[in-house]
Amino acid sequence: MTIAALFPSEIESFRTQIDSRLDRYSQFTQYGLDCPSHLKAAIRYSLLAPGKRIRPLLVLTAARVCGGDVQAALPASCAIEMIHTYSLIHDDLPAMDDDDMRRGRPSCHIEFDEATAILAGDALIPLAFEVIGRETRPAEVATECVVALAKAAGAARLVGGQADDLAMQFTNPELETLEHIHGRKTGALLTVALELGGLMARTTPETLTRLINFGKHLGLAFQITDDLLDLRGSQAKMGKRIGKDAERGKLTYPSVLGVKQSEIRARDNVDAAIAALKPLGDAARPLESIARFVVDRTQ
Ligand code: IPE
Ligand code: IPE
Ligand code: MG
Ligand code: MG
Ligand code: MG
Repeated sequence: MTIAALFPSEIESFRTQIDSRLDRYSQFTQYGLDCPSHLKAAIRYSLLAPGKRIRPLLVLTAARVCGGDVQAALPASCAIEMIHTYSLIHDDLPAMDDDDMRRGRPSCHIEFDEATAILAGDALIPLAFEVIGRETRPAEVATECVVALAKAAGAARLVGGQADDLAMQFTNPELETLEHIHGRKTGALLTVALELGGLMARTTPETLTRLINFGKHLGLAFQITDDLLDLRGSQAKMGKRIGKDAERGKLTYPSVLGVKQSEIRARDNVDAAIAALKPLGDAARPLESIARFVVDRTQ
């Protein structure tokens, strides 16, 4: 099932807008010849590759659910996809997961070279913050978005989770430790996607808290499903190699809990995510659809 199959008309239009903005933001026209062409090619190769765009779709959908302006949320939604893409480029490097395939193509360091892949990832990080700072109004909302995204992407969350993910290979820790890692390496970015949507719509603190709770559960469900798909998914559909977590001794839900319990955990987290939005009523339906897609997906 694709996300478009769930609520086709709006999602397809969101996706088109996200893709055309990502294209525009990675032209670097204002930089003249100072952005080397091979670096620009590597950035665009990874950023414009066919990803699911879940995180930017969550930003726009959350903004819409909260009654905000979807157009105004586009820069923040693209910024999160830039951070996500950098994390994938670096995640695939030989020093990290050593994966040669991503989004149905050779990984960035295979298509180009390791140094170029590192630098392409590096360049995407400031670009994300530049885009929010330059294009999000009012300035105080831009500041809130920059701080929230920086925290989520930073040493205590995404990067910290990635560091622990590597440090814990071939260990057998408690479930709590596993959840703490997944919640940061993957959950942080999914959670801040919801938060950015709410901030852009200038929603109430109560609704923001509900969105963040939804995001936390969704993030766990997302990574549990990713772990399950690494075991039994289709490489062609996933666009990345499967079966590598076990080979690398990765700490995953199925390795700790087994397949059945992992499936139950993923579904429980989706139910908890949906329950967190209950007070928003029918308006929250599009977010519910995305949450269900997250566990039912095959891609
Ligand atoms: C892959 O994320 C990395 C994880 C956090 C599991 P996605 O599954 O969202 O990857 P793309 O963006 O669709 O390629
Ligand atoms: C990735 O987790 C989390 C990131 C921050 C990129 P994985 O290492 O399981 O993601 P895939 O399976 O390579 O996409
Ligand atoms: Mg990894
Ligand atoms: Mg990986
Ligand atoms: Mg994985």
